[in-house]
Amino acid sequence: MSFDLSVIPNKNIIVGITGGIAAYKSAILVRRLKDAGFNVRVVMTEGAQAFITPLTFQALSGNPVHTQLLDPEAEAGMGHIELARWADLVLIAPASCDTLAKFAAGLADDLLSTLYLATSAPVWVAPAMNQQMWAAKATQRNLATLVDDGVHVIMPESGSQACGDVGLGRMPEPEELARQVTDYFHKAQRAIAEKFGLLASKHVVITAGPTREAIDPVRYISNHSTGKMGFALAAACYAAGAKVTLIAGPVSLDTPNGVRRINVSSAVQMLDTSMQLLDEGCDVFIATAAVADYRVAEVAEHKIKKSGNELDIALIKNPDIVATIAQQDKRPFMVGFAAETRNVEEYAAGKLEAKKLDMIACNDVSRADIGFASDENAMTVFFAEGYHLPKRDLEKASKQEIAQQLVEAIHDALHHDPAQDEAF
Ligand code: C5P
Repeated sequence: MSFDLSVIPNKNIIVGITGGIAAYKSAILVRRLKDAGFNVRVVMTEGAQAFITPLTFQALSGNPVHTQLLDPEAEAGMGHIELARWADLVLIAPASCDTLAKFAAGLADDLLSTLYLATSAPVWVAPAMNQQMWAAKATQRNLATLVDDGVHVIMPESGSQACGDVGLGRMPEPEELARQVTDYFHKAQRAIAEKFGLLASKHVVITAGPTREAIDPVRYISNHSTGKMGFALAAACYAAGAKVTLIAGPVSLDTPNGVRRINVSSAVQMLDTSMQLLDEGCDVFIATAAVADYRVAEVAEHKIKKSGNELDIALIKNPDIVATIAQQDKRPFMVGFAAETRNVEEYAAGKLEAKKLDMIACNDVSRADIGFASDENAMTVFFAEGYHLPKRDLEKASKQEIAQQLVEAIHDALHHDPAQDEAF
């Protein structure tokens, strides 16, 4: 399971396809861009249609394919100027030397070359051609002009070509092209978040997952925590512009995009790592980990052998990580979680006070439809008294949506000035 922000919402890509054998790779490219969450419209030159049919791209993009400049019917649907304005990025893949020449000369005798002139979106070209045609002076001259005009050129790769030649001119694999496009939008999104996000310029440290307390070299005590809530929060904090460090117990989740992850096993390791990160400078500490309350007093050096009907293992109390961090001089804004099966709000309020937290999010784990291994959650958030902020009920929603609402709650508390309340 992934909490990656790889899905880019509401971004529009025009994939321009020109005449070249690499056009077959563009079918997979369109598919991958759709998978990444882009809206895709395909424009094909006449040459491209000799290699692959518009129907293929209509099915893959889920949109009608644009082929004609002077087609009244197509223009009535989405005219070429409207299409040019629709795009957030135009990617020509493969870009033939003919199309590169047209772009460089500013010709507008078909739909794609007209679009090139009519769009204000970034234009990327992925040239693909025979190695001799790539090396030709005219092609290199046209490319230099395009680079000068602000076009981004995705360099072709070297290798064996469909024509039997070996050399530069192969279009990179579609997965690689889709990755570069996705990266571009991620970076742009991140730059905005770092400036304007709800947690811009904050370092957020999050503990997540269970801890594992060794009994002997092969056995341990643990719990069923999956870490999903902590990982969703890490992704949401990153999306809100924060620098995020995730201290993860043993869980099988992918690290969210952009998040630094430190794997730990036991509660003691989790605390040590948390303390180190405090020294690095931490603004918000979120404890979602289901830390084992006790650990084995003396971990056996060798595997414990089966003997007798009973086995006594002495346990000692683990440190309370969140409470320990909250006691430090340079304490960050502290967020805790409470999972209860009864008197949820009462216990949560007690924990808020006892652990000296700023905010606590509590859920009722007796409900089978939310919590632990579920993908959904519902919570009530309480703030420490000094904030004068009312409790917030977060209705049942995906853990990602709940994480987003928790980020908003953290932001609101961080920016809340109780003096303002008194002024009214
Ligand atoms: O006391 P309880 O385990 O119910 O408290 C839950 C909250 O305290 C969670 O935020 C959890 O991550 C944190 N906690 C901790 N270290 C512990 C036990 C709980 O940080 N040893």
